[in-house]
Amino acid sequence: MLRLVCDGSALENSMQLATDMRLVPEASSTLIAAKGRSGAVSKTPEDLANIVSAFASSDGWLDRVRLRANGRWYERLYHDPDYDVWVISWMPGHSTGFHDHGGSSGAFVVATGTLEEHRPGERTRVIQSGKPRTFGPDYAHDVRNAYLAPAISIHAYSPPLDEMNEYELDGTQLVPRERPTGKDQTLDQEWRPQSRKPAERTGALSIEQVLSAARSRLRRLSPLEAFEASTKTEAILVDIRPESQRAIEGSIAGALVVERNVLEWRFDPASSARLPIATDHGIQVIVFCSEGYTSSLAAAALQDLGLWRATDMVGGFHAWRASGLPIVQPSEASQDRSS
Ligand SMILES: [Fe+2]
Repeated sequence: MLRLVCDGSALENSMQLATDMRLVPEASSTLIAAKGRSGAVSKTPEDLANIVSAFASSDGWLDRVRLRANGRWYERLYHDPDYDVWVISWMPGHSTGFHDHGGSSGAFVVATGTLEEHRPGERTRVIQSGKPRTFGPDYAHDVRNAYLAPAISIHAYSPPLDEMNEYELDGTQLVPRERPTGKDQTLDQEWRPQSRKPAERTGALSIEQVLSAARSRLRRLSPLEAFEASTKTEAILVDIRPESQRAIEGSIAGALVVERNVLEWRFDPASSARLPIATDHGIQVIVFCSEGYTSSLAAAALQDLGLWRATDMVGGFHAWRASGLPIVQPSEASQDRSS
């Protein structure tokens, strides 16, 4: 593995930093600092903004770009006791989910492409190349590439990134996402690309890879979570199964029926065929199908349209029924609402 280093004087001048970078084998470097080394001086968000701008304007990150269909690719470009710098490669649809950065302040800048930043209760920010975003400790956000082109971004944190916590959106509030293990696994989740085998150079993806990529973008809900979201919040439960399947299996009272073949046209706020409820990209659509496979692809397709809260229900209608949640028996299902 190669790592980007620079000499000590360059650390004091972020503009010089970009020109002093070089790649060296990690084993030969002495600049990696032990975590917690005394004497570290925290950078301000404005310092970090200058640093990411300097890195972005250099060509030191170009050979670190890796575009992977199944997850964001990151690499750390620089690390010292005061701060660290990362490059992240984003394919269309990749997102971080809501997270914070522990006690670290940070800054990031888009080098190429366009990203979006989401915060509860705030308008979506479109982050284009050139102007860094900055934040202080305990700042939480969800960053995503909601566009059709890949994006590359440069991130810096001070103190160096040591802890991240994930959150779920509950209405307009962020609640900590439960994790089975500690912060190291959370860091893995945030920064490491998934270990699944990448696409072959033919460019063809298997359905397992496509499904995995779709689900990596979703905060999937169990049937009980979907039930509570649809009854206690403004979330919309959407049944995408064909009529023939609903007639055999039954349906869910109150679920909106929008069959898969018209789903995007009904929920794109810019579509002339949209539903009256599809007024903006912030609505939460919970898609379900029969067993929870097609629904993942459908939810990802809605995210591609900018409906960033779209997700699906694990296990689909079958899991809902098995959970003992209320259903409309097949003989009654013909009374479903339809799009
Ligand atoms: Fe972040």
